[in-house]
Amino acid sequence: MLKMKFSRLFYILFLMAVLSLPRVSGAASKWKSLADDGIHDPESPAIGILQEPAEALSKLPQDTSGNRVNWVKAIDEGIINPRTNIHPETKVRIWDNDVFLEKTGEMPVVRFPHRAHTLWLDCKNCHEKYFISKNGANPITMMKILQGNYCGRCHGAVAFPLIECLRCHSVPRQKLEQIKAETRKAESLKVQSRK
Ligand code: HEC
Ligand code: HEC
Ligand code: HEC
Repeated sequence: MLKMKFSRLFYILFLMAVLSLPRVSGAASKWKSLADDGIHDPESPAIGILQEPAEALSKLPQDTSGNRVNWVKAIDEGIINPRTNIHPETKVRIWDNDVFLEKTGEMPVVRFPHRAHTLWLDCKNCHEKYFISKNGANPITMMKILQGNYCGRCHGAVAFPLIECLRCHSVPRQKLEQIKAETRKAESLKVQSRK
């Protein structure tokens, strides 16, 4: 029993150590300039004409990791208003609903917010190919996420990185029932469309 607990703790610490490596090295410069981002050719005449990331991104709500922008806040505060559809008949579906994923061992429970995701994505981006739409029906593990499956398809790639453990594991187990009850009360049951 003690041995089991010990090895799980070790696993968690190991995950945190591995995942924090890129953050330590990236922390020095907030936004790399185009000439040294390793993507653009520094000799290109476009350098000096194209807008620098720091100029565009520093005006948006700040975040501590990834590209340092809190994109959910940027939409909520009306600072950006990305176009939702090209064809007028496309239905934009936003769902104010949180799902609790509880198979998290000694870590806090994961709260998955549908609203924040459906501001950016359609239901079909996730259901039924990557996630079965039934709570508890997906055999998700942290290892599979780290290998780029489930949440790891986007987090660590186009959404905040996996080192931010507590942004997903955000519900302490002893508060779970209370938070679930409060969430149910606050949620609107209808799928809305965005104006
Ligand atoms: C970013 C991915 C993603 C998007 C987009 C998404 N979902 Fe989900 N959905 C999930 C995940 C993850 C779960 C939880 C699955 C689990 O518990 O194993 C879930 C669960 C569900 C459930 C089951 C809830 C329950 O309590 O059992 C329903 C129903 C659902 N989604 C419908 C929708 C609808 C409708 C939309 C669009 C308005 C949508 N989803 C958009 C990822 C997504
Ligand atoms: C993008 C969201 C996300 C992030 C970030 C995240 N996790 Fe998870 N984690 C999950 C989900 C989802 C599960 C599976 C829960 C379920 O199926 O009920 C999980 C499961 C786990 C488990 C349970 C055992 C296992 O292996 O699956 C542990 C332990 C864990 N995570 C640790 C961590 C640690 C440590 C970090 C930070 C280094 C972290 N997680 C970051 C979403 C995340
Ligand atoms: C298809 C892509 C995709 C998948 C799959 C996905 N996410 Fe996200 N997630 C996003 C994007 C995009 C954002 C908004 C940008 C950001 O915060 O980095 C986001 C934001 C979030 C947020 C922050 C919400 C806020 O209000 O700031 C949480 C928490 C989160 N995701 C958890 C999860 C968990 C847990 C899973 C897996 C069960 C998951 N996500 C799967 C794309 C995804």
